[in-house]
Amino acid sequence: MLQERNFMEKGYFITGTDTNAGKTWSTVALMRYFKNQGKSVVGMKPVASGCFIGQGLPKNLDALLLQENASVKVDYGLVNPYAYPLPVSPHIAGMDNPVDIATVLAKFEHLKALADVALVEGVGGWYAPINNHQDVSDLAVAMGLPVILVVAVKLGCINHAKLTFRAIQQSGLVCAGWIAACTEPQLLCLDSNIKALNAVLKAPLLAVLPYMETADFDFLSQQIKI
Ligand SMILES: Nc1ncnc2c1ncn2[C@@H]1O[C@H](COP(=O)(O)OP(=O)(O)OP(=O)(O)O)[C@@H](O)[C@H]1O
Ligand SMILES: [Mg+2]
Repeated sequence: MLQERNFMEKGYFITGTDTNAGKTWSTVALMRYFKNQGKSVVGMKPVASGCFIGQGLPKNLDALLLQENASVKVDYGLVNPYAYPLPVSPHIAGMDNPVDIATVLAKFEHLKALADVALVEGVGGWYAPINNHQDVSDLAVAMGLPVILVVAVKLGCINHAKLTFRAIQQSGLVCAGWIAACTEPQLLCLDSNIKALNAVLKAPLLAVLPYMETADFDFLSQQIKI
C-alpha cells in the first residue's frame, strides 16, 4: 500500500496514541520487515528519558533495541542524541540540556545516509513536550517524514487515535498508515475495535500486532502488510 501511494520513503516517523502505546515494538517489527524486503535499516530514538547509566553514559532501552536491530553498526550518540536519566517528561528531564531540533536533524542526516530506510521513534504522544517551547509534532514537522501512527488497542483508544490522526493532519504531515498494537492480553471485542478504528483513521492499516507475552519481533514483522 505504501508503494502504491508513493510513500516508499527513505524514512518514517513513528508516533503513538500515548506513551507505552507500542511504538518501540512496532518500530523493531518494521525494521525487521524492511530487512526481510532486502533493505538496510537504521532506527533513531532522538529523545528518551528514564535512562540507566551504561559505560558511564545514560542509555535507553528503546534506543539500544533500535541500535541492535540496525543493519549497520551505528554509534549510540547518533541513535539517541538526547538521553535523560530522569524518568519524567523530556522538558523536565532535559532542563540542563534541552532538545535542540537542529542537532537532532544533523544526527539524522548522518544516520539516514547509512541505510535505505530510517525509522524514527517519537517520545510519548504527538503533543508530548520535548523542551520548554516545542513538542513531538514540531520535531516530526522538522524531520518532514511521513508518519506511522501506533494505536494501543484498549478502552478509550478510538478517541486517542482520532485526536492524534487529526493532529498529524493539522501539522501538515502525511499519515502513511497505522498499526494496531494489542498491548492487553484479553481485550473484549478486539475485532469491533479495529473495525471502528479503521473507519475513523483515513490511512491504511499496516498491521495488527497481536498480544505476545514475550516479543517475537520476527513473528510481529510478518504481520506487517505494506
Ligand atoms: N504486541 C504486544 N503484545 C504484548 N505486549 C505489548 C505489545 N506491544 C507492546 N506491548 C507492551 O507494552 C509495553 C510498551 O510497548 P513499547 O515499549 O513498544 O511502547 P512505546 O510506545 O514505545 O513506549 P514509550 O513511550 O516508553 O517509548 C511493552 O513493554 C510491552 O510490555
Ligand atoms: Mg518506546
